[in-house]
Order: sequence, then structure tokens, then C-alpha cells
Amino acid sequence: MPAKIIDGKQISQSVRQELKQQVEVLKASGIVPGLAVVIVGNNQASRVYVNNKKKACEQVGIHSEEYALPEETTQQELLELVETLNGKEDIHGILVQLPLPKQIDEEAVIAAILPEKDVDAFHAQNVGHIMIGDYRFLPCTPAGIMELLAYEGIDVSGKECVVIGRSNIVGKPMAMLLLHKNGTVTVCHSRTRDLGEVTRRADILVVAIGKAKFVTADMVKPGAVVIDVGMDRDENNKLCGDVDFDSVKEVAGYLTPVPGGVGPMTITMLLKNTIEAAK
Ligand code: GUN
Repeated sequence: MPAKIIDGKQISQSVRQELKQQVEVLKASGIVPGLAVVIVGNNQASRVYVNNKKKACEQVGIHSEEYALPEETTQQELLELVETLNGKEDIHGILVQLPLPKQIDEEAVIAAILPEKDVDAFHAQNVGHIMIGDYRFLPCTPAGIMELLAYEGIDVSGKECVVIGRSNIVGKPMAMLLLHKNGTVTVCHSRTRDLGEVTRRADILVVAIGKAKFVTADMVKPGAVVIDVGMDRDENNKLCGDVDFDSVKEVAGYLTPVPGGVGPMTITMLLKNTIEAAK
């Protein structure tokens, strides 16, 4: 039997309906949640992500402001903007879209964001909270994946969970959230020996590496839950994920599509964090 395709678009719409109601309650008490979205340079993928984030804010009634800076922006200029936004009372969340141009130190910029406004949960203080399981903000992509699992009634406790990719944005926090739900977690990366041997043990496999159609059916245990975080282009320049969807769907028990899987949930978690920040 082919995999059940997890419809992240539909699930995210249902979560956004709930968030919209929360925004209405906040507005009735005189608070309009506000998000500042900062984009530097001309990265086309970043432009698409930022537009989607702004549209999603509008959908649930969050006020959003875009700050688009030129490619040649200096680190000092960007830090000054972050300082200004830190002090702005009507802005509860600050998001600096990554990657940044090479003359800018991303870590320094993230460190400058007030932790209370860090709706991406990238600041070391928030990362620390994630480590110890006492969250203020959840990192958007891993949190969105946990919501997808919960929505589908997939229990993590005791399961073999394998994460491919060890980025600060996805792989590492994903491993933590699965661990907090009592999964047995393995993190794989480019130096992992015999990757297939590890991934074939997974009951839940999360792939976040940015390589088109990298995970093939022979790497997946029959019936496994496969979560594809990739946003890649295939040989025909068509949007695809890190998982070879057509072959893996014949083996997996559940599979997220690209687009329409993890992506919409990531944005929904950003909205959730912005509302939390406003509260
Ligand atoms: N670049 C890729 N993913 C993300 C994200 O979740 N947040 C930000 N700020 N930049 C990103």
C-alpha cells in the first residue's frame, strides 16, 4: 500500500484558523501582534520565503513590516536596524532571513536580536532553553514537524528516529524535540558511514540536507514515517525535496510532499511564535 501523504497545507490552514482567533482576542485587549521581517540582498529563494511569511501574517491578522536592505549592507548597518527594532514597542517578533551576504557575520546578527523577540529561536539563549526542554519559542521547522506528527496521531515515544542533517536551524533542534518526546534519536551527516544502514532502522526519518531526491526507497524501512524538509530543484529545475518522492512513497507508511508538506507548517509556527511574543 502506498504511503499516506501528509497534507501540510491543509493541516497548517486548520492551525492558522485557531491562531486567527487568538489574534482577535489579543486585538480586543488592544494588542496587535507585530512582526518585522528583514531581508538583505537579492537571494531569490529568500524573497519567495519572505513573501510567503508576509502573506501568512496578513491571513491571521498579524501586522508585518518588511525591511529590505541592499546586498552591500554592512554588518554595522544591519546591527543598527536590529537595535532599532529591539526598541520598537509595536514589534514583538524580529526575523532576519538567512542566509546573509558574506560580509555579514550571521552569528553576530542573531546574538543582537532581543531573545524575547527572537521568533526564529536562533539566539543562543533560546537554543539553550530548547536543550533543557523549557521552551519559550520553538524553532519553526522542527516545531512544525512535531505538529504534523501529532496531527497524524504518530507517537514518537520509544521509536527509532533518524535525522539526516545537523544544521542549527533544523537538524540539531529537531533531534532535541524528538528526544524530549522520548524518541531514540540518531543524527546523521556527511561523514556518516553506511548511511543506508542507519536510515533503514528508522521508524521516523527526517531529512534536511538540501540535496535533491537524495533519499531513495532502498534507504527506507517499509512503513516508516518520512519527513522531507528539502526545498531543492531537480534536473528540470522543478521544485522537489531531499526525498525521491515517487519511489519512497511505495515503501513508506507516511510521507510529506514538497511543496505542501513541511514548508507551510514552518510558517505557521512563525505566526504562533509571534503571537506568543505579543502575549
Ligand atoms: N532561512 C532558511 N530557513 C529559515 C528560517 O526558518 N528562518 C530564517 N530567518 N531564515 C531561514
